[in-house]
Amino acid sequence: MCGIVGIVGSRSVAPLIVDALKRLEYRGYDSAGVATFVDGKLDRRRAEGKLVNLEARLADDPLPGKTGIGHTRWATHGAPVEVNAHPHFSDGVAVVHNGIIENFRELREELEADGFSFASQTDTEVVAHLVAKGLRDGLDAKGAAGAAVSRLRGAYALAIMFGGDDGLIVGARHGPPLAIGHGGDEMYLGSDAVALAPFTNQITYLEDGDWAIVRRHSVEIFDADANPVERKIDVSTGAAIVVDKGNHRHFMHKEMYEQPEVIGHTLANYVDFNEQAVVLRDSGDASNPVDFAGLPRLNITACGTAYLAGFVSKYWFERHARLPVDIDVASEFRYREAPLQDGGLSLFISQSGETADTLAGLKYCADEGQHIASIVNVRESTMARASHSVFPTLAGPEIGVASTKAFTCQLTVLASLAIATGVQRGHIDRATEARLVGELSEAPRYATDALKMEEQIRTLAHDLAGKKHVLYLGRDTNYPLAMEGALKLKELSYIHAEAYAAGELKHGPIALVDDEMPVVVIAPHDRIFEKTVSNMQEVAARGGQIILITDQRGAEEAGMETSRTIIMPDMPELVTPIVYSVPVQMLAYHTAVHMGTDVDQPRNLAKSVTVE
Ligand code: G6P
Repeated sequence: MCGIVGIVGSRSVAPLIVDALKRLEYRGYDSAGVATFVDGKLDRRRAEGKLVNLEARLADDPLPGKTGIGHTRWATHGAPVEVNAHPHFSDGVAVVHNGIIENFRELREELEADGFSFASQTDTEVVAHLVAKGLRDGLDAKGAAGAAVSRLRGAYALAIMFGGDDGLIVGARHGPPLAIGHGGDEMYLGSDAVALAPFTNQITYLEDGDWAIVRRHSVEIFDADANPVERKIDVSTGAAIVVDKGNHRHFMHKEMYEQPEVIGHTLANYVDFNEQAVVLRDSGDASNPVDFAGLPRLNITACGTAYLAGFVSKYWFERHARLPVDIDVASEFRYREAPLQDGGLSLFISQSGETADTLAGLKYCADEGQHIASIVNVRESTMARASHSVFPTLAGPEIGVASTKAFTCQLTVLASLAIATGVQRGHIDRATEARLVGELSEAPRYATDALKMEEQIRTLAHDLAGKKHVLYLGRDTNYPLAMEGALKLKELSYIHAEAYAAGELKHGPIALVDDEMPVVVIAPHDRIFEKTVSNMQEVAARGGQIILITDQRGAEEAGMETSRTIIMPDMPELVTPIVYSVPVQMLAYHTAVHMGTDVDQPRNLAKSVTVE
């Protein structure tokens, strides 16, 4: 993870770097730092914790200089303390890094034997010393950076500055993304285009293995074999983005409330409301669309909340399109050596489009000759650019680390894809397509109704706050939604929570149930509701405190019309995972607010995980 920024500027850059880092804080917020070129040498300020601490440090002790690099950290190697904060220095060299240098131990031993002493526990510091060694051995800046990068194994986006050369930053990328921004009288580097949005919308994305010599008025790019290459300049849409909480207390709260609108936007991209038909808009390679009709198998790979969206869609693709689906978390899939069927489709789901494990899974499937499709929220992301087919979510920028609106938009795209697949495979006739599309089109309205239940959920959250453990249960598409509920509660409130398929309860987890254990049951009245009621009775008989999320009929049949029942509007089965996400998110949100945790930036987490 981590976010990096570099500016070869024509004015004092430290405040600009901090401004850009604020836009990258979603990548990590354990510590931050900035280095600039001042009076012929490098200087830096660093601070533990969030960027506000670095800002305070800079206010007390400003850092002049027109060339600089900056970093916001998600700790991998070494505790999140100031000494491990980037930029790391060696003799006349400063480095910021996003990623993991896998061979850092052997490099460190070699460098220590060569007389370099280490000030931190980070893997990054070896890069600074390697470059300094190159300079000491008589190489120029470009040669020293190139020689250092050629020794690194692992994943890195790097920005390197030189004490002997004001007006130069070397950038390099292997794995994590790195963008170069072209200004009139300045040049920029950043982990993404959004970070650079205040300065420019003219962006060059480095390809994997590229490195670049960035000066005030020029950039030279080289590929992994050190051949000069041309990379095109894109016009980024990031500049239009306003990162603002509005009148909401947290970004997460704002983003939950945006859901009816962004689900609607996303839907409008995939369905024709008049014809009540799915219109698949694939914004990938138009000459190579997916042939859903002939697909033997679909495999879905993702991480975290995006994985759970994929898990919900397994039920949809298998039920409505009779398409067998394999689903994996990317960190397992990438090393599993799964045999893939010829002519199969590999689908990757990611808000950021940059998650390292998901990208590695994508590469595996591409090497195996699969058709690659992605569902991404960031259209310029590495994943989108590496896919044959791209199905964007139109959620807009999501700032809260815990994903909300990106998840419901992913579900919206997946439901549309499942219907389209069913139609193309001859399992959904015209009348059924019209019915399903009609049902899906109502999702924004139901989501609006669900948001009105906030007060009731806030009260209920009192019961969860302070608990040690919580169980979540669901069946069918509500099983992955139960997993999403447990994940949200864990990441936001730090309460231990687990989800089980309701029918699995009796095979072990029921041993945990006592009168101290809240059990959140997600169960709209559906075909298998009665089965879930039996599972709830098993919990109630052992004193478990049930919080039931259901509809009117479900509440009546469960015999539980109590204050611990959240009664949702009646809605078609297809949209329940999308709409029931709202109370599930809110329950976790309000529990966290009651407990006073940092809702938008929970401890130890980051929004974009570009390391494995
Ligand atoms: C992190 C975030 C999660 C997210 C996951 C996958 O863990 O905190 O909210 O679901 O990464 O991220 P992606 O960008 O690939 O959807």
